[in-house]
Amino acid sequence: MAVYIPLAIKYRPQKFSEVIGQDIVVKIILGGMQKNRLGSAMLFSGTRGVGKTTIARILAKAFRCENHQNNDPEPCCQCESCLNFSHDNQMDVIEIDAAGNTGVDDIREIIDSGRYKPSTGEFKIFIIDEVHMLSKSAFNALLKTLEEPPPHVKFLFATTETYKIPETIMSRILRFDLKRVESDLIAQHLSSICNQENISAGADVLALIARAADGSIRDSLSILDQAINLVVGSELLLQDVKDMLNVSDDNDIVDLLDLLFSADIKNAIAKYREIIRGNASGTKVMNSLTDCIHVLTCFKTGVPPLEALVSDDIMPKLKKMAEKISTAAVSRIWQMLLKGTEELKFCDRPEIVLEMLLVRIAYASGLPDLRELIEGIEKKNSKPLAKNEKMPDIENCKSPESLSDEVLKMFPGAEIQ
Ligand SMILES: Nc1ncnc2c1ncn2[C@@H]1O[C@H](COP(=O)(O)OP(=O)(O)O)[C@@H](O)[C@H]1O
Ligand SMILES: [Mg+2]
Ligand SMILES: [Zn+2]
Repeated sequence: MAVYIPLAIKYRPQKFSEVIGQDIVVKIILGGMQKNRLGSAMLFSGTRGVGKTTIARILAKAFRCENHQNNDPEPCCQCESCLNFSHDNQMDVIEIDAAGNTGVDDIREIIDSGRYKPSTGEFKIFIIDEVHMLSKSAFNALLKTLEEPPPHVKFLFATTETYKIPETIMSRILRFDLKRVESDLIAQHLSSICNQENISAGADVLALIARAADGSIRDSLSILDQAINLVVGSELLLQDVKDMLNVSDDNDIVDLLDLLFSADIKNAIAKYREIIRGNASGTKVMNSLTDCIHVLTCFKTGVPPLEALVSDDIMPKLKKMAEKISTAAVSRIWQMLLKGTEELKFCDRPEIVLEMLLVRIAYASGLPDLRELIEGIEKKNSKPLAKNEKMPDIENCKSPESLSDEVLKMFPGAEIQ
């Protein structure tokens, strides 16, 4: 039986040109190598699975490549040093996970070994992952070396939490912030990997996985890895991936939104419970709702949505919905959802919090649109609203009746249907 290698490892980029979605960082590194202007300490920051370790390793390989040329700093991937990298057999590249080696003694050991020249090649390289975990005294010991680093040493640090690294250290290192990778790019990457693995997967399946990965290439590959186990034959099916990811069908979310906008509380809640029974979590439903509202807002304002947040098949439905509802209604739901997201953090039962929130949203949709109401009454009474007259406070109105009362106070004698 062939040895199973996780996709994330099998497809780790070996050269800068294979790195995805970090163009500026790669450009600066290549330029810096060409001009010989990269310092002796660099930090790669960013969330999980965006290429910190990958780029650090390629850079280490490039520094040590026997065929290194200034005008083309890519590692050759053929010399003995480069080949040793692929066999994980590099004496002069020391990788440490700071999470398990936080103490000052661990760092001293590194610093001491840095005094000696590399056994072969020009540079000895220390890759320190999760560097923010180092203790205060460990950072202090490191600081001394960073102030006067031996010329044959390079430190490559990686972290998910830059703010935990002392300023004194930060000011002595070259810093690269890696971005979350756009879901379109991730989907393209997944597509090429599926080709190589002889798996066929539709664009909708790949877009769904890319969205779920939330900017992390490693996450996208782990999801794909799992999904491939579901494949019967050679085709990856949308429904299987949806079931696996526990995502609600976007069409259901649009139906739910429709009911919310029409203030149909009873059916909105019934729909919501149906979605939850289908195994989607409250948080997932909430996220899908906010994504849809974002797309709706984009339709209303004419700006393109940030990236493929929702599946293509519901785009026409959202476009139609945007024609029917007011910008005010969309932004009101947005505000309420954002507030709800905060509430979710403090509650163990997100399903219930969200249900209560949906009741509130549907209820608010039933409140009369303030501007229309006032315009209607103005027309009837032909009395324009005085400039400094206070508008009724719709957010604090307890019911449609109390809102009417507020308005009636302003327009005595007016009737509200
Ligand atoms: N920018 C990227 N381009 C291509 N593949 C990537 C990229 N970032 C991550 N990956 C994939 O995810 C895996 C883990 O990436 P890694 O660099 O270890 O992430 P981290 O940022 O957490 O250090 C890699 O082996 C590779 O398959
Ligand atoms: Mg890493
Ligand atoms: Zn080489």
